[in-house]
Amino acid sequence: MTILVTGGAGFIGGNFIYYERKHHPEDSIICLDSLTYAGNLSTLSPILDQPNFRFVKLDIRDRAGVYQLFEAERPDIVVNFAAESHVDRSIESPEIFLQTNILGTQVLMDACRKYGVQRFHQVSTDEVYGDLPLDRPDLFFTEETPLHTSSPYSASKAAADLLVMAYHRTYGLPATISRCSNNYGPYQFPEKLIPLMIANALNDKPLPVYGQGLNVRDWLYVEDHCKAIDLILQKGRAGAIYNIGGHNEMKNIDIVKLICKELGKPESLITYVADRKGHDMRYAIDPAKIHRELGWLPETGFSDGIVKTIGWYLDHRSWWEPIVTGEYRNYYKRMYGGR
Ligand code: NAD
Ligand code: DAU
Repeated sequence: MTILVTGGAGFIGGNFIYYERKHHPEDSIICLDSLTYAGNLSTLSPILDQPNFRFVKLDIRDRAGVYQLFEAERPDIVVNFAAESHVDRSIESPEIFLQTNILGTQVLMDACRKYGVQRFHQVSTDEVYGDLPLDRPDLFFTEETPLHTSSPYSASKAAADLLVMAYHRTYGLPATISRCSNNYGPYQFPEKLIPLMIANALNDKPLPVYGQGLNVRDWLYVEDHCKAIDLILQKGRAGAIYNIGGHNEMKNIDIVKLICKELGKPESLITYVADRKGHDMRYAIDPAKIHRELGWLPETGFSDGIVKTIGWYLDHRSWWEPIVTGEYRNYYKRMYGGR
């Protein structure tokens, strides 16, 4: 089996490649990634020279390049992680989100139709459902919840989901979609809440909490997400959508305080800053379908996962320190300077 993983130099794609290597060592993996600011080839350096692994620097919007790769490698399965993934950046510059997340997905699906695949899997997000109110803890996102997006990022992911379902119905593309809640774990780019707070706390820098920090996210350890996608590839029904989440809702402020505690840093580092525009209040996934149909359950609870994650950032400074000292500093100034 040959699996084409797009966006594999990013956070979840990289973790997925290691998951597949461990659980299906007989499979060949090709990683296609254009190495945007969020892609980091050092994540994959331990396996770059392995015989059944190939890295290809390519943009999913490059139709000719993508067709050439499919012609040469004839992948059996395509898993699309490649995306612009950060909400704040989408508020600043929406266009690249539409190009990569929608048109890039279309190019990949056209290649799948032209060359034939057993499965095209689209890695989507719970953000396509919009948000839930804080005073209705009884409400959860199911696969039937209407799409109701808030940010240019989530709108681009919802558009891609609709296109995937259209390709399934119109052309019979054997496609599946997963919509996962917030991930955390090793190799996450330090612009996202948890790694940003860990990196800032370790450098005794202010911890910028948006608004009052009362927004709720439903956190899942990244390996549990990878396991769910692997199950969907093996046992999921073509045309099906699966929500993925571990019923682990937490307020942002509680996460930041926990990180301070684990690192022995004072809460006085916490700085409340201007809120994100259109900020979603609460995400909460109902994972009943993937549990019922595929037997998926998360394995890592938040208390273990966050300790493992903090430990990973402590042990892998050489992975993230070059990021926070490089071009990222300009982004940080732009994003947080005037808040
Ligand atoms: P990430 O930003 O860490 O990685 C994205 C990767 O895609 C990078 O390696 C980047 O170089 C690559 N990429 C971007 N544009 C590309 C292009 N045009 N062509 C080829 N490669 C390109 O993202 P992530 O957090 O790992 O998210 C992966 C996927 O999972 C995304 O589709 C995202 O929407 C989805 N998702 C993320 C989360 C989360 O909590 N991070 C949760 C649910 C779903
Ligand atoms: O729910 C899945 C989504 O989770 C994915 O689709 C996205 O790709 C991923 O980025 C993530 O989106 P969020 O916007 O929820 O993640 P982020 O880490 O950016 O923010 C988490 C919460 O923390 C959110 O309420 C905003 C807040 N926040 C974030 C940052 C970066 C802060 O308070 N301060 C910050 O500096």
